[in-house]
Amino acid sequence: MDAAITSKMQKHYPVLLKEIISIISPQYGGTFIDCTFGQGGYTKKILEFDKTKVIALDRDPESEKIALKLEDEFEERFKFRNIKFSQLNNLKLKKENVKGVIFDLGYSYTQIKDPNKGLSFDSIGKLNMQLGLNSYSAEEAINKLDQKELEKIFKFFGDEKEGKYIARNIVKERVNKKIDTQGLVKIIDNSKRRKNFRVNNSTKAFQALRIFVNKEISELIYGLINAAKILKKDGVLAVVTFHSLEDKIVKYFFKNLSENKSISRYTPLIEQTDTLFHLTKKKPITPNEDELSENPPSRSAKLRFVVKKTDFFDFETDIEDQFKNLIDIENFGEKL
Ligand SMILES: C[S@@+](CC[C@H](N)C(=O)[O-])C[C@H]1O[C@@H](n2cnc3c(N)ncnc32)[C@H](O)[C@@H]1O
Repeated sequence: MDAAITSKMQKHYPVLLKEIISIISPQYGGTFIDCTFGQGGYTKKILEFDKTKVIALDRDPESEKIALKLEDEFEERFKFRNIKFSQLNNLKLKKENVKGVIFDLGYSYTQIKDPNKGLSFDSIGKLNMQLGLNSYSAEEAINKLDQKELEKIFKFFGDEKEGKYIARNIVKERVNKKIDTQGLVKIIDNSKRRKNFRVNNSTKAFQALRIFVNKEISELIYGLINAAKILKKDGVLAVVTFHSLEDKIVKYFFKNLSENKSISRYTPLIEQTDTLFHLTKKKPITPNEDELSENPPSRSAKLRFVVKKTDFFDFETDIEDQFKNLIDIENFGEKL
């Protein structure tokens, strides 16, 4: 599923950058929304084309420091907002000709390296995993959720076959003391009956917790819905995913709105086309050999994109129903 996240990674590379640029065609100008600014890799490349404007978001306040320098350099053409992409609809975009909305999901190298974020299973100290603008940490989840809830998180967000034993041992251990990152690693090691020597024992359970703490499923679903609304006709929605759950959601959303009738029946006749999106490539684009050898963690990246066929923003999708079981699991966090 996920590429193992360890703090031994060396440097941040904007994944599939050339491919993203060739899909969104910034040479023709327009406004681009970079929903995952990170280190600004995509944004900086787009700004090299002088008829472009970029509005970038990131939930991590650390990104703002890099963004401030760019705001000085490109005063008229670049703006940064520290918000989550599920809130894309709060951007005031009436006058903008939005030609591209891009998502590069996951975490940047600096976030993985940041000991305070505790994203990696080789971090020392408090369990955290919050990227920014969160309501609870992994420590609260591990120490407060009940056994069944933890089991579901490991099973559905990490595909962790032994989630049941891990959850049972967490509940047993936390009676004695608060569980920190290395405490959790030890519990996972002791819970595993089937050892896998190729992947670290903690990979799947840690992925599951990160998804839960950052509500990545609902973030992605509402991010996609809002992105589809703000795009203008012929605009491109492009998403890079890093694990199979994310890819499944993106694939479903694109297929749902490009194959079945998706334009709302209330849409004015003049705007009516059968579907909202045009899906030119069914298979995802993946990194080529050069990128893989320069940046091995890119091996799990998949890029999918669609082109919007109309300016109208009203459409029908059942994506929330389709992934309701996962949204319900994320909602266990409401009591934390
Ligand atoms: C893989 S990095 C993006 C790297 C970027 N493309 C670059 O070239 O530097 C992903 C970024 O998305 C941000 N992020 C993740 N989920 C988010 C969300 N729901 N809303 C806004 N930003 C989010 C993370 O904080 C992180 O900085």
